[in-house]
Amino acid sequence: MSYLAAPDRYDTMTYRRCGKSGLLLPALSLGLWHNFGAIDDLDNARQMLRTAFDHGITHFDLANNYGPPPGSAESSFGQLFQQDFVTHRDELIISTKAGYTMWAGPYGDWGSKKYLVSSLDQSLRRMGLNYVDIFYHHRPDPNTPLEETMVALDGIVRSGKALYVGISNYGAREAKQAIQMLRELGTPCLIHQPRYSLFDRWVEKKLLHVLHHEGVGCIPFSPLAQGLLTNKYLAGIPADSRAASHRGNGALEEGAVTEDKLRKIRALNEIAQQRGQSLAQFALAWILKDPRISSVLIGASKPAQIVDSIGCLKNISFSAGELKKINGILG
Ligand SMILES: NC(=O)c1ccc[n+]([C@@H]2O[C@H](COP(=O)([O-])OP(=O)(O)OC[C@H]3O[C@@H](n4cnc5c(N)ncnc54)[C@H](OP(=O)(O)O)[C@@H]3O)[C@@H](O)[C@H]2O)c1
Repeated sequence: MSYLAAPDRYDTMTYRRCGKSGLLLPALSLGLWHNFGAIDDLDNARQMLRTAFDHGITHFDLANNYGPPPGSAESSFGQLFQQDFVTHRDELIISTKAGYTMWAGPYGDWGSKKYLVSSLDQSLRRMGLNYVDIFYHHRPDPNTPLEETMVALDGIVRSGKALYVGISNYGAREAKQAIQMLRELGTPCLIHQPRYSLFDRWVEKKLLHVLHHEGVGCIPFSPLAQGLLTNKYLAGIPADSRAASHRGNGALEEGAVTEDKLRKIRALNEIAQQRGQSLAQFALAWILKDPRISSVLIGASKPAQIVDSIGCLKNISFSAGELKKINGILG
């Protein structure tokens, strides 16, 4: 059935400025790392994109290697984009990345200019787009001079194939260097995409401060620790969960659902319930309480999860007492 976007789609979502740029991002953005590949149900993927957009989620995040197999999330997205969203192109922020292993030989991985430029061309072909809104270097490359990677990003913006560029998985020190190089080249770094959740707080040590100081946005990924920070594992590992799916490529595995994690999840869930939130809403609100966060990048396997997660926006403030209790649980 052809898609008519909900007329009230901008009524409830909040939008945050990405660093000191002109770009506003929805408080929640949708990532297509899992559940949008060739092994997944295309109609479910379609319903998730429609649900997200109908609720004001204007940002879809991809990477060259998302699937499985690698590349297939971009192909599926391209197909769904052409069917449902082509007339909404100017309402959408579409991102992709290169940095992890993509094709055989010395030019399909890491951070050379050769890899980044070729990979973006391939991504644009798979998605049927003329340009992406944000192109990221996906992970730092210890063997390529940072300058080469940043010159490649700068050139990509100048070529018109990306409007903005970002970095992902860079530590605080290397992020600062990259941001300064890009500024000197005349292409500001728009955004950094780090992993951040109640279970993984490394960004609080330095990175968030650096990004704020430099005027660069921050969009944390895996805010639900891939589903651990939801109520789904409280009573065991459900058959339709990511942990049971053996998807590979860094996806949550059964071994990560430990007794220690479950003890913490149950204790956090009690605070979530006192706040009238699902555990997923609570975990997302906890990240969004920090105004330095531009958007949180959620994943989903069902449209209903997206609707549930957006409900976090009803309450993103925490009392000092709640924060103390949370810190006590996390240890
Ligand atoms: N830059 C990078 O290196 C990098 C790395 C990883 C991810 N990312 C980006 O971040 C995005 C999000 O990552 P992620 O998928 O790991 O995020 P996540 O939000 O931590 O986990 C998503 C999973 O949590 C479960 N879930 C989501 N909402 C739920 C809800 N309301 N109630 C119950 N369960 C819920 C679902 O698990 P089930 O599937 O079990 O139902 C879903 O697949 C990716 O798609 C990608 O765009 C970037």
